[in-house]
Amino acid sequence: MPYSRIAGLGHYVPDNVITNEYLTSVMDTTNDWIIERTGIRERRWVDPTKDTVAGMAAKATRMALQRAHMTEKDIDFIVFATITPDYFFPGSGVLLQRELGLEGIAAMDIRNACSGFIYALSTADQFIKSGMYKNVLVIGAEIQSTALDVTTRGRNVSVIFGDGAGAAVLVPSEKPGLLSTHLHSDGRFAEELYVKDPGSSRPREERQPEQILDTTTYKVVMNGNQVFKHAVVRFMEVINEALKANHMSKEDISLLVPHQANLRISQFIQEKMALRDDQVYNNIMRYGNTTAASIPIALSEAWAEGRVKENDVICLAAFGSGFTWASALIRW
Ligand code: COA
Repeated sequence: MPYSRIAGLGHYVPDNVITNEYLTSVMDTTNDWIIERTGIRERRWVDPTKDTVAGMAAKATRMALQRAHMTEKDIDFIVFATITPDYFFPGSGVLLQRELGLEGIAAMDIRNACSGFIYALSTADQFIKSGMYKNVLVIGAEIQSTALDVTTRGRNVSVIFGDGAGAAVLVPSEKPGLLSTHLHSDGRFAEELYVKDPGSSRPREERQPEQILDTTTYKVVMNGNQVFKHAVVRFMEVINEALKANHMSKEDISLLVPHQANLRISQFIQEKMALRDDQVYNNIMRYGNTTAASIPIALSEAWAEGRVKENDVICLAAFGSGFTWASALIRW
């Protein structure tokens, strides 16, 4: 069978709701500033004694498998997108494989930040098309709250990000399914949105205990203005690329599920592309930016709300650290 399709979707977010009001109690910010600049009203942050990245992914997986009428034993490959793995190494893919009791199957991690889920979906699609694997679990999962600077110094970053996990089960299909995926990167902008440590770029003499105890280099650094400017251009480019490759136009999109970076970015794209409200799905208001998890969480919720129906054309699009950007067009 030459194509793949999504047979089931699932998601999991931690119980712990962090409101904008709570953030005003720990840093110099306001509810109005956060809502006006980002659209976010609340996000979920884990209790690190309870949740792990692989554990959240397992919960999302079980929902996806149930909806696909499949079991763990049907999975023969895991592609796990995260930039916040439980350990520096090995990746969270093998931890999920262990959690699901699937000893011996292949598992790999993808570290492409907010574009990670689409890169993972594309990777899974190639393996299914080649016939090497059959039923592939595609994950986007992040715990970002533990690496945020939750003080006034880190307020431009910490109000934006949240934790969560999403899962998709990709299976072979006689017809698409996944129509096409489009992947891009531009490493000239790597340091516009990044975490430096624990990277290997430090000379050995800088790796003394007192240097390592300086935790500022373990926090997210973001040049918000640059990210915003590039994001709005690349999002539109890569959506149009997907439409063109499939001889479609924006009127053919039943639902655009953009990476939930910032509500203003989604609204800018919607306005520029003249898409109706019912053609765009946003849930950043409730979860913040969950990086690789944002698209599968949004898609899973959209499906559960009945906004993804048979034969619909679903467009996924993402932009993030790297910079990387990507899109996928799906016939449901
Ligand atoms: N609360 C209150 N004030 C804040 C704040 C916060 N949480 N964060 C920053 N500010 C202040 C700044 O200190 C600055 O103050 P100053 O003018 O006195 O220096 C002012 O707000 C404006 O800062 P600036 O960074 O220019 O704001 P902005 O309008 O660009 O908004 C972002 C900041 C981060 C919301 C915006 O740049 C953005 O959305 N970028 C894209 C981010 C993104 O999508 N990232 C994920 C990509 S995957």
